[in-house]
Amino acid sequence: WAPAVAPAINVSSLDWPELQSTVSACTACELHQSRTQTVFGTGDRSAEWLIIGEAPKADEDQQGEPFVGDTGQLLNNMLRALGLRREQVFISNILKCRPTDDRDPQPEEFTTCETYLQRQIALVAPKMILAMGGVAAHSLLKVKTPVTKLRGELHHYGEIPLVVTYHPAYLLRKPSEKAKSWADLQFAASTVKGAQK
Ligand code: URA
Repeated sequence: WAPAVAPAINVSSLDWPELQSTVSACTACELHQSRTQTVFGTGDRSAEWLIIGEAPKADEDQQGEPFVGDTGQLLNNMLRALGLRREQVFISNILKCRPTDDRDPQPEEFTTCETYLQRQIALVAPKMILAMGGVAAHSLLKVKTPVTKLRGELHHYGEIPLVVTYHPAYLLRKPSEKAKSWADLQFAASTVKGAQK
């Protein structure tokens, strides 16, 4: 075991191919030892929406793409209900590697990995960040407030508007909460539309 260390390389000037190859070679925390591959993120690299989940699970670790399992199907359906195809948004995670046994990401793992996400955010320059679930919301907003309290309000990550909603995995366990998540998505969509005026 070795303590997480920030990536030695300064990623803030990297372009997409450089960033992607830096991420795929990353050994900055212990998660590199157990991953099959990194899960960089997928979609439109100049999207209006940046969707951020927690961390890759087994399916994503195998396929190298975020949200490809059951949760991915639900996410795709949620996006479709908004009139968006998966390819029209950019989807990534708090962590680029799967935590062993799918345990929760540790704060120091996110601190190490955050520079990559920050560079992705700067490159995409989205109009809206949708943080799905407590891990994404707490990591990005640096608070511990429950998702129930964070949703329904407009937050910001730096200058970028950010809306918190439930994680699709939670919605699969608790379908009765889908209506609230739909309200969150509509709230986020109205903010994106407002920004275009
Ligand atoms: N859950 C997440 O948060 N991200 C994925 O990529 C898959 C499942």
